[in-house]
Amino acid sequence: MATFFFSSFLLLFLSCATNSIPVAFSEQNNDYLVSSQLVSHAAVEKQSHFRLYCHAIYSDPNPTTVRVAAASGTNKSSTYFGLVVLMDDPLTIGPDANSKLVGRAQGTSAAAGLYKMEFVMATNFIFTDGKYNGSTIAIFGHDEVLAPVREMPIIGGSGLFRFARGYVQARTYSRDLETGDTVMQFDVFVNHY
Ligand SMILES: *[C@@H]1O[C@H](CO)[C@@H](O)[C@H](O)[C@H]1NC(C)=O
Ligand SMILES: *[C@@H]1O[C@H](CO)[C@@H](O)[C@H](O)[C@H]1NC(C)=O
Repeated sequence: MATFFFSSFLLLFLSCATNSIPVAFSEQNNDYLVSSQLVSHAAVEKQSHFRLYCHAIYSDPNPTTVRVAAASGTNKSSTYFGLVVLMDDPLTIGPDANSKLVGRAQGTSAAAGLYKMEFVMATNFIFTDGKYNGSTIAIFGHDEVLAPVREMPIIGGSGLFRFARGYVQARTYSRDLETGDTVMQFDVFVNHY
């Protein structure tokens, strides 16, 4: 009797435990699951702050940001609503375009604001130099281009930035009013392992 109670209790406990905590297990109906294990939080996350300058060049002969689509009303819209651009902008360590190149900002930006110049920005910072060469940071957020500081979330990363999270603060460093060529300063605050 006591054994029966004990084992039922144990079963109940085990089933609750398996329902609430992801433990290593193998299940018949999960033949595509390779493994599932508890994650140790002993590894300490660090926060790195990078400062990079992004060069958006619209002018010929070698534009790095190009218009790829627009709505029929985009040219009449004061906010460019409907415009979509793609970019592959150099990331350098200084505001001078000839300063050391350390990566590229590859992504897309779409004018999503009916009433203000607001863009949906989705871009990857791809590092091409030194320790971080080959690692990437994925940024997705709201870019109100005329605001002095635009904060956008870091939603992930690869390589040394696996499981990255954090935010970037973008500032317009300079803009050529004739060509539209723009240098942006990015302060990247990224938590990673
Ligand atoms: C809108 O302006 C762009 C850039 O000046 C031009 O390439 C495009 O043809 C224009 N589109 C329309 C529909 O007028
Ligand atoms: C970055 O990595 C690539 C691929 O491994 C390599 O070809 C390149 O030389 C590296 N660049 C630098 C500056 O270390």
